[in-house]
Amino acid sequence: MKRDFLHVTDFSTDEIHETFAIAAEVKERFKRREEYRPFSGCTMAMIFAKPSARTRISFETGFFRMGGHALYLGPTDISIGKREAVKDIARVVARYNDVIMARLFDHAHVLELAKFASVPVVNGLTDYNHPCQIMADLFTILEHRKTLNDLKIVYVGDGNNIVHSWLEMACRLPIHFVCACPENYQPDQQTVKLARDEGISEIEISHDPMHAAKDADIVYTDVWASMGKKEEAEQRRIDFRGFQVDDALMAATGKASLFMHCLPVERGVETTDSVVESPASIVFDEAENRMHAQNAILLKLFGKA
Ligand code: CP
Ligand code: NVA
Repeated sequence: MKRDFLHVTDFSTDEIHETFAIAAEVKERFKRREEYRPFSGCTMAMIFAKPSARTRISFETGFFRMGGHALYLGPTDISIGKREAVKDIARVVARYNDVIMARLFDHAHVLELAKFASVPVVNGLTDYNHPCQIMADLFTILEHRKTLNDLKIVYVGDGNNIVHSWLEMACRLPIHFVCACPENYQPDQQTVKLARDEGISEIEISHDPMHAAKDADIVYTDVWASMGKKEEAEQRRIDFRGFQVDDALMAATGKASLFMHCLPVERGVETTDSVVESPASIVFDEAENRMHAQNAILLKLFGKA
């Protein structure tokens, strides 16, 4: 049975912990520039319907460094769902490749891709979620804090795909997760309910970022207008007034908190240059760890770890 990674919840709690251990090991091998080629002779098709820096570079570089070959298929190459049906692309691409990584708009499309592809499919972001990002994020937190116990994560901003994957993570690992967002920009209610019903994490939705920030170990933010919503950027700058992560908000935690952002960041919008450049910021460790966490996920999907 092939396995996919479309949601954080596709992995069990144990598998998530194992993935972090594998990521740490793979990272060490990379740092030593060790000859390590578990994907030798394998190819990965990377389907991008949206732009990307980190996702493309980390998957392509990581797969190559581990012996494989990755193909970049950009928005105009196969036009998934437009030039050709998702279920057709799934079967065609799977005939040539050992794994498919896809960044798509519609979450239903990544589900369909996985359903019809005979090879593993990895979700590289949809409008709904971004599971690889949150795996890398929690791995980064573990590196910095050495433990995931008693972790309060305060996300400030849009209740978007990043939040949904944090909520998926909250279904598997116990965290105190607060999403501080404007009233009209809340995460998907069903996903919030799912995380609450799982009963292992504390989930709060707040509309008061300063209050929410108190005791945060991690302050996390993301763009106010995600890919596909860029035409709303101007309106959102008005609607998100008071939700910028600035030095005052970081100070409001009352702790030596860390700052995270999945990137790309719009400095001066959802956060300030001074926060991104502050010693509390671990955004570039977070970006680097995309590669190591994803390699670990791929090793698990290939049954090589
Ligand atoms: N964080 C992230 O996924 O970045 P890209 O959009 O550049 O891939
Ligand atoms: N929420 C952002 C994340 C980018 C990595 C977006 O979807 O554009």
